[in-house]
Amino acid sequence: MNEINILGIVGSLRKDSYNHFALKAAQELVPEGAVLNLIELHGIPVFNQDDEMAPPAIVLEFKRQILAADAILFGTPEYNYSLSGVLKNAIDWASRPFGESAWLDKPGAIMGASTGSLGTARAQYHLRQILVAQNMPMVNQPEVMISNAAQRFDQKGRLTDEPTRQHIQKLLAALVQLARISPPMKSQTG
Ligand code: FNR
Repeated sequence: MNEINILGIVGSLRKDSYNHFALKAAQELVPEGAVLNLIELHGIPVFNQDDEMAPPAIVLEFKRQILAADAILFGTPEYNYSLSGVLKNAIDWASRPFGESAWLDKPGAIMGASTGSLGTARAQYHLRQILVAQNMPMVNQPEVMISNAAQRFDQKGRLTDEPTRQHIQKLLAALVQLARISPPMKSQTG
C-alpha cells in the first residue's frame, strides 16, 4: 500500500507554541505506512485579492505542499473564540484564485491546544465551517481538544499527558483511513 503523506499545518507562529509541540508529538504517533511533515506559516503575507492571480513564491510553495499531500492535519490555536488570523489568512491564500483551491477534496483532521479549559473547541468549529467551503472530507471523531495545555507539556515542549497522546494516535489512524478511502478527486467548486 502506498505511504500516506500528511501535511501538518502549525496555526501559531509562537516560538514555544503548544500547537507546534502537539504536532511534533503527532509525528511520533503516526501509524505505520504514513508520514507527517510539518509546515509553519511564517512569512506568508496578508492576503490581498489584487495579488491572487500572481501570488508570492511563498504562497505558491505552500499550495504546492498542500497539493502534494494525501491529507492535512491542522493544529489550531484559539484566539478570541476562533482560529488564529494567521491560519485563516493562509487558508484564504491557498483557496484562490477561484477554481484553483489547493484544499479541494483533500482529506483533513483538526486538533488544537489552548491554555483555556475548552481546548480550542470554539476555534475548531469555526475552522470546520471554513473547510466546508473547500469541500474537504474531514475526520469527525475523535475530537482532539487539548485544554490547560501548560499542564500537559513539559519544559522541553514534550507532550507528557498519556491520554492526550492516545487521543492523537486515534485521530491520526482515522485520518489515514479517511485518506485511503477518499483520495483527492479534484472536482471543482468556489
Ligand atoms: C488567547 N488564548 C485563548 N485561549 C482560549 O482557550 N480561548 C481563547 O479565546 C483565547 N483567546 C486568545 C486570544 C489571543 C489574542 C491570544 C494571544 C491568546 C490563549 C491561547 O490559548 C494561548 O496563548 C495558547 O498558548 C496559544 O496557542 P500556541 O501559540 O501555544 O500554539
